[in-house]
Amino acid sequence: MIDRLAIIHTAETTHSLSKQEIMLLLTSDEYDQQLFMAADRVRSKYVGDQVHLRGLIEFSNICQRNCFYCGLRKDNVQVKRYWLKPETIIEFASKAAGYGYKTVVLQSGENDIYTVADMQYILTEIKSLGLAITLSIGEKTRAQYEAYKKAGADRYLLRIETTDRKIYAKLHPGMDFENRLRCLSDLKKLGYEVGTGCLVGLPEQTIESLAEDILFSKAIDADMIGLGPFIPNDDTPLAGEVGGTFVTSLKVMAITRLLLPDANIPATTAMETLNKEGRMIALNSGANVVMPNVTEGEYRQMYRLYPGKICINDTPVHCRGCITGKITAIGRQVSQEYGYRTKK
Ligand code: 5AD
Ligand code: SF4
Ligand code: FES
Repeated sequence: MIDRLAIIHTAETTHSLSKQEIMLLLTSDEYDQQLFMAADRVRSKYVGDQVHLRGLIEFSNICQRNCFYCGLRKDNVQVKRYWLKPETIIEFASKAAGYGYKTVVLQSGENDIYTVADMQYILTEIKSLGLAITLSIGEKTRAQYEAYKKAGADRYLLRIETTDRKIYAKLHPGMDFENRLRCLSDLKKLGYEVGTGCLVGLPEQTIESLAEDILFSKAIDADMIGLGPFIPNDDTPLAGEVGGTFVTSLKVMAITRLLLPDANIPATTAMETLNKEGRMIALNSGANVVMPNVTEGEYRQMYRLYPGKICINDTPVHCRGCITGKITAIGRQVSQEYGYRTKK
């Protein structure tokens, strides 16, 4: 007899599972509530009840890559492209600090518009505002990562997207899985807090490969793990695909919490796109971070990775109030700390 409750118990107490055990949890929904509750207990015990907010600045939607799932891919001519001037990025960060954020995430498509000198200027200025800085700008050289780190970047998000090399190759033309691993390894060596994670529900993705994705985050001891459903975008080669489900994404996230008890795990925007309570459900199933959008003006509408993205017509002030209300309503508090990972 397969005892899935025993597997959940093992995960909760030892924070370790085999690939087969993870697959068993992913192939039945019978004990999903027990899984989510266990992840919630581990979250509470290791990282507490405070929710860390990270203000997301989407500073350019220009991308030289062609990831099959993403609306910002180079070949998507439907997108009106923009890049914010350094002064504007700094101004958005300054406003975010004014709204009470302790961290900003600078995210863009992968491009070479901003020189190392530009980035050094942006990072130095934002750092002087007393903010922690997370970068999410793709694959760069070690020298670039080093320069950003010296200029004040603290954390870096680079999802592996999928650890299935065959799927990776198909969905990322011209990209190299090995280089992505090199980037993650360089970032770690340079002293960044490193974030990774995967998409759930990619074409041809199996339960086994999802289990491997979870184990990958554990193997590299990721400090942050962001994951969510793949949501098909009409303007991409994956239009018409089925996409991931909310529940499977939530399960992958909950198991990730059990295995990485002290990591920072966001309740992602993609989760909320598939379920209007998605982020709060995620916060009650292992997550401890939310990344509200602090991009001002028209730009957030132009940063469309997938359809149905939430908050595209809202302002940073509105989202700040909205998310605080939701977090308070589920009995949690917005953290006033930087929210670095504390290894336990
Ligand atoms: N559905 C869900 N997530 C997506 N991303 C890109 N395109 C999609 C999509 N169609 C995610 C990728 C990337 C992050 C910034 O957005 O995982 O790492
Ligand atoms: Fe560019 Fe990132 Fe989208 Fe890939 S996922 S096309 S690198 S913005
Ligand atoms: Fe943007 Fe709720 S967080 S409207």
